[in-house]
Amino acid sequence: MCGIVGYVGHAEAVPILLDGLKRLEYRGYDSAGVATLEEGCISIRKEIGRIDDLRRSIGKNPLGGTTGISHTRWATHGKVTQKNAHPHCDRSGRLALVHNGVIENYSSLRTQLEEEGHQFISQTDTEVLAHLVGRAFDRSGERTQGALVSALREALHLVSGTYGIAIVHAEFPGLIIGARRGSPLVLGIGKGENFLASDVSAIVGHTRDVVYLNDYEIAVLTGEGFTISTIEGNGADYNVTTVEMTDEDVSKGHHSHFMLKEIHEQVKSVTDAMRGRLAHEEATAKLGGLNMTNAELRSVERVILSGCGTAFHAAMVGEYAIETLAQVPTECEFASEFRYRNLPMTKDTLVFVLSQSGETADTLAALRESKRKGHRTLGICNNVASTIARESDGGVYMHAGPEIGVAATKSFTSQVTVLTLIALLLGRIRNLSSSEGSRIISEMEGLPAKIDRVLKLEQEIASIARRYAQAKVMLFMGRQFNYPVALEGALKLKEISYIAASGYASAELKHGVIALVNEETPSIFIAPHDAVFHKNLSNIEEVKARGGPVIAIGTEGKGQELSLLCDDVILLPEAPEYLTPILASIALQFFAYHIAVTLGCDVDKPRNLAKSVTVE
Ligand code: AGP
Repeated sequence: MCGIVGYVGHAEAVPILLDGLKRLEYRGYDSAGVATLEEGCISIRKEIGRIDDLRRSIGKNPLGGTTGISHTRWATHGKVTQKNAHPHCDRSGRLALVHNGVIENYSSLRTQLEEEGHQFISQTDTEVLAHLVGRAFDRSGERTQGALVSALREALHLVSGTYGIAIVHAEFPGLIIGARRGSPLVLGIGKGENFLASDVSAIVGHTRDVVYLNDYEIAVLTGEGFTISTIEGNGADYNVTTVEMTDEDVSKGHHSHFMLKEIHEQVKSVTDAMRGRLAHEEATAKLGGLNMTNAELRSVERVILSGCGTAFHAAMVGEYAIETLAQVPTECEFASEFRYRNLPMTKDTLVFVLSQSGETADTLAALRESKRKGHRTLGICNNVASTIARESDGGVYMHAGPEIGVAATKSFTSQVTVLTLIALLLGRIRNLSSSEGSRIISEMEGLPAKIDRVLKLEQEIASIARRYAQAKVMLFMGRQFNYPVALEGALKLKEISYIAASGYASAELKHGVIALVNEETPSIFIAPHDAVFHKNLSNIEEVKARGGPVIAIGTEGKGQELSLLCDDVILLPEAPEYLTPILASIALQFFAYHIAVTLGCDVDKPRNLAKSVTVE
C-alpha cells in the first residue's frame, strides 16, 4: 500500500511529483524516490523516511526534466533501506519502474532471471518486474514505443499478484506507461500535461478530470494525450469523471493534524451521511443506491457484514442495530477470514462489505468471493469510484469527505450512521411501526447537535487523557452496542500511541481479563445510562476492588453513581442505545489523540501503518 505519482508535460516534474507524494504519504512512509527523464537519461533519487527527507536530498542534488515517476513506500518485501526504495531499474538501467502492490511469484522469477545472468540490487519483488519488462523489450529487438508496451504486456502475463505501476524509459522522453491489477491507479487529464496517481488527492490541485483505470488495463501517457488498452492488447473504453474533491479537502487547514481535523468534521460528515435519506412521510430511510425493491429487501433472511479494522468494528455496531431494529439475523465477518472461509449461506443472504478507502485488498476479495457465490453484495464506501464501489451490486456512499489521517475517525461514525439507516429501512419493511420509525428519524436528526456538544468536551477529555498517558496497558470495556466501541477505542489508542490497549465485553472481565487489573492499568468503561448500565457498574466495582483506576463514559445528568465510583467521568448527551456508539467513539478518538500528542507520537503517520491496505 504504497503511493505512486507520475507526470508528463511542460512543467518541471519534480515539484509536482513531490507535492503529489506528500498528499499520498498516508499510504506509506518508509522511504520515497523519484525518477526523471532528462536529455535521454534517467536520473534517480531515493531516500529512507519521509517525503521531506527526499525533498531535502533533492535540494542538495537537484534533478530536472518534465517527465517523471515517483513513489512513497510501505515495505512489504525487503527491509526499509535506500536500495529497497523505489524506483527500481531493469538490467540496462534505462528503464525505471515504481510499484504499489505485491508480485507473489517474484522469488521463482528472480531465480530464473539470475540463472540468465541478471543481478539484483534490492530484495524487492518490484525489481523483478522491472527486469522482466527490460528483458522482453531487449528481446523484441525493436526500440519502439509499441515494442515497449508489448514488452510490458509480456511481463505482466508472467507475474501473479497485485500491481499499480508507472514506468519511464530513457529512450522515450515525454512518455509514461501505467498499468493496474488489484491496486488503484487513476489517470489525471490536464492541458498539455497528464498525470498518474494511486489516488486523486495527489493530483486534485492540478486537475479534477480523471479516468479510473480498471484491472488489466494499461495507460500510455504523453503531454499531448493518452491511450488506454488491455494487457491482451485490445482497446479499452473509459469514462472521464470530474471529482468533487478540492485542494482544501485534502489540506489540514488550521488543525495540527488531519486526525484532529477529521474528528472535528463529524457534525458535517454524519449530517452528510443522512442527507436526503430520511423519508419522514414513510417514516423510513431512503437508500436508492442499494438497487433493491422493498420486496427484495423483504426476502432477505440473513445479513452478513464484512470489513477490516475500524470498518469491522462499525459492522459489529451494525449487527446490533439490524438485529435490534429489524430483527434480521446478522453476522459480522473479518473480510480476511470470510474470503477463505466456506461459510454456509442461503440464497436469501444479503452481504455488505464496508470500506472507507474502497481499496482494502481483503475486503475487495471478500466482495468478489461473495459475488462468485451468487450473493447480492453491496458496498458501504467513502471513496467514490473506488474498486469496491465499482464492483459492488450497489451500496451506500458515506459522503464523509477525504479521510487522510491513518487512524479512521469520521469514517467510523459515518459507517455506523449508514448502518443505522439500513436497519431502519429493513425494520420498516418488517416489524417497525411508523411511529417507531419516526422516533428513530427524529433521534437521528438530533445527532449532529449532540456530536457538536461532544466536540466541545475536547479540552476536558484532553486533560483526563494527559493524566493516563504514561500507562503501558489500557483496558476498554463496553456492553451491547458499546462492546464494539470498546474494541474501536482500544484500536485507536493502539495504532497512534503504541500503548498495549485492548477492548472487551465488560462481563468478560471475570473470565480472565481482570488478571491484568492493577494500579498502573487504567480501565475505560463505556457506560451510558441504558438497559445494562447497572451491569457495567458492577464490573466497575470489580475493577475498583482490585485498585484499578477507572475512567467512565456516562450520560449527562445521570453520572452520579459513576462519579462516586470512578476516577474520571466523561458525560455525553443522552441518546438511544443505537446512537450512543457514535457519541462515545468521538470521546474515545479525542482520548487517544491527546494521549498520542502527549507522548509526542506522529499521530497522522503512525509507525508500521498505512491508510489503505491494498496488499493481502
Ligand atoms: C483504522 O484506524 C485503520 N486505519 C484500519 O484498521 C482501517 O480501518 C482498515 O484498514 C480498513 O480500511 P478501509 O475502511 O479503508 O477498508
